[in-house]
Amino acid sequence: MNLSLDSGAMVADLAAIAAHSDTPGPGVTRLVYGAADLRARAYLRERCREAGLELREDGLGNLFARWHGSEPELPAVASGSHIDAIPHAGRFDGVVGVIGALEAIRALQRAGFRPRHSIELILFTSEEPTRFGIGCLGSRALSGALSPEQLRGLHDSEGRSLESWRSEAQFVAPLEEVRLPVGSYAAFIEVHIEQGPLLEAELVPIGVVRAIAAPATLQLRLTGQTGHAGAVLMPERRDALLAGAEIALAVESAALSTGSPHTVATTGIFQIEPGAVNAIPGRATLAIDVRDIAAAPRDQALATIRSAIESICGRRHIEYDLHLLNADPPASCHPDVIEAIIKTCDDLSLPRMMMVSRAYHDSLFMASLCPTAMIFIPCRGGVSHRPDEEASLEHILQGTALLAHTLARLSA
Ligand code: GLV
Ligand code: MN
Ligand code: MN
Repeated sequence: MNLSLDSGAMVADLAAIAAHSDTPGPGVTRLVYGAADLRARAYLRERCREAGLELREDGLGNLFARWHGSEPELPAVASGSHIDAIPHAGRFDGVVGVIGALEAIRALQRAGFRPRHSIELILFTSEEPTRFGIGCLGSRALSGALSPEQLRGLHDSEGRSLESWRSEAQFVAPLEEVRLPVGSYAAFIEVHIEQGPLLEAELVPIGVVRAIAAPATLQLRLTGQTGHAGAVLMPERRDALLAGAEIALAVESAALSTGSPHTVATTGIFQIEPGAVNAIPGRATLAIDVRDIAAAPRDQALATIRSAIESICGRRHIEYDLHLLNADPPASCHPDVIEAIIKTCDDLSLPRMMMVSRAYHDSLFMASLCPTAMIFIPCRGGVSHRPDEEASLEHILQGTALLAHTLARLSA
């Protein structure tokens, strides 16, 4: 099939989404259900309507835009990603997969292709954990990994509930209707920037993902005793920051000790109170992210971290409150979808390499609902979650062409 992508439309769509940010530059910030997220969603809905897609939104704001196939009773073939962005992020994380899926559908329509299976664009709500502390909120709930009760228990850091946020954003359908049955889709493919340096270093335009690492997230509250920085002598202290500092070092050594090169662990949040130069830190809040592409070494690191917390806090007389927010199973991409992508690479003479995804994605949860795989494109220097994140138009077009032809193959 002779497909021509409208690169001007893609550039305009990417720029239009990037223009919606909660903060002035550099970079974009689009927290779920914030004003910028809602404006970007409105833009996208409009583009989907223009393309003649049928829209559905669930109670979390997951958006499903369907191009009906000639046999609409067959499960659809789907593609999509997220548009929410962490503070001062780049313009491409997630957005490339959403605009790529939209343009793939538009290009197939222009080419006169008539799918047998419907083709659906999915915009997932809150892939980023910024607002509610847990990533892949929308896809997690679609897959049933997060129940309506758990969703109702979620709050932002100021104590405002997800229920309040979503109703203000006009997403009012019952949470009980968000979960989808296994087999709802024939296949799911997500295009995403690599967020790592390998494709660029190897000068390969396409990564075919075979496995997606899964995070476990720990939230830790440490309580010691604050006091006067001059008056309290060292042997009397119960300093929550120092306990946290030892724990952060233990997190690093736990990741290094599993024997798996894929284990990574990060103490990404470390806040102290009262936060005065002349007061001993009496409280600390830490969030720890532990990942691997296999569950066993990831869980081994988690166990090592738990026992380090117990012994450090015991020795320093610190009380602690530890919550495992999530410990998701890593996913393998489906061989049939991988094969369809590889055959299409061959048809298009696109060089590709197999890789793993060290970042998590909505595909992690879609993989439990239907055969799933991911297409990576290079990003400059492997940089992501930074304002200077950059993907070239040439690579975006190559990834989108590969997606369009693979969607055609799978929906025929
Ligand atoms: C996704 O943004 C991740 O943290 O892997
Ligand atoms: Mn991200
Ligand atoms: Mn992403």
